[in-house]
Amino acid sequence: MSAPNKSYDPVEVEALKPEEIERMQGEALAAFAAASSLDALHEAKVAHTGPASPLALANREIGALPPHAKAEAGKRVGMARGAVNKALAARQGELEAERDARVLVEEDVDVTLPHDRVPAGARHPLTTLSERIEDVFVAMGYEVAEGPEIEAEWFNFDALNIGPDHPARGEADTFFVEGPDGTGESGVVLRTHTSPVQIRSLLDRELPVYVICPGRVYRTDELDATHTPVFHQVELLAVDEGLTMADLKGTLDHMVQSLFGEDMKTRLRPNFFPFTEPSAEMDMVCYVCRGESVGNPDRPCRTCSSEGWIELGGCGMVNPRVLAACGVDPEKYSGFAFGFGIERMLMFRHNVEDMRDMVEGDVRFTRPFGMEI
Ligand code: PHE
Repeated sequence: MSAPNKSYDPVEVEALKPEEIERMQGEALAAFAAASSLDALHEAKVAHTGPASPLALANREIGALPPHAKAEAGKRVGMARGAVNKALAARQGELEAERDARVLVEEDVDVTLPHDRVPAGARHPLTTLSERIEDVFVAMGYEVAEGPEIEAEWFNFDALNIGPDHPARGEADTFFVEGPDGTGESGVVLRTHTSPVQIRSLLDRELPVYVICPGRVYRTDELDATHTPVFHQVELLAVDEGLTMADLKGTLDHMVQSLFGEDMKTRLRPNFFPFTEPSAEMDMVCYVCRGESVGNPDRPCRTCSSEGWIELGGCGMVNPRVLAACGVDPEKYSGFAFGFGIERMLMFRHNVEDMRDMVEGDVRFTRPFGMEI
């Protein structure tokens, strides 16, 4: 058994010598002062206050000292560690304050910067005109009906009394959807008018039916100033008991008065459509010259070519065959229908001379119509 270590001198324990402790404290304070960022300070903190730091290691040596030496060494190390922690906290405070000041400058939002450099979009004049027309009829109790643009031939033609030999079914007008074997025998077309929506409405709805059918339609026309292969129509269908051509005429007059002015009126000219009988072409008084250009070479009118009337579209009493195809009893019910192109109406309502302007998307064309969102 060895004798107690009476001659043990704590001063001789290298790590606990006062100058060593002072050096460790000095190094820690210098490292904190040199840390120029919070990350660097964190590293210095680990190095100088962590479990492997010189002061922590020195602290462990105290346990090995004889009792009478522990107090003095403990006090020395404790004071040094206290001073180091205080310096760390102070530097931490300084660096955090610097960071906060920097963030305020760097992440500053300049609320005076213009926010409206990118102009807000607006709806296309074709859309707004179509909706304006719909509104006229919704106000009278009509419902808006929509249907697919890729349509079964039966809805687009057969149910509308357009038989297999009708010229409108030919390649000249219609886009046929290819069949699965690469032929045109799919029985599906891009709808050539919105009339198939009338058929769908009659099949789907309870009678009486009052619907307005806006939508995109397709015909194999080249794009030029007055034609486009994709255009828009609005069609109307009313089927009820006791409807006559007088109701059709009154409805048309109400529409043009709502859209073009109170003194407007329409006229009907005999025509033929397979799905209406009798059928008519409908014209409205030229809303620009109001008929005053007719026979008046001093006041020519470009809108109606001095004819006094503008052709709107087709109309008529629903053919009883169409009612029968939809399971409606033609003895009990009658109906009227009309349809016209929105592009054409936009052209004469706003003096648009080239239909291509409507599809090209140039804001210089759409802007004068105003912003309607
Ligand atoms: N569907 C006809 C067309 O596209 C227009 C029309 C509708 C005519 C309703 C009469 C009645 O040309």
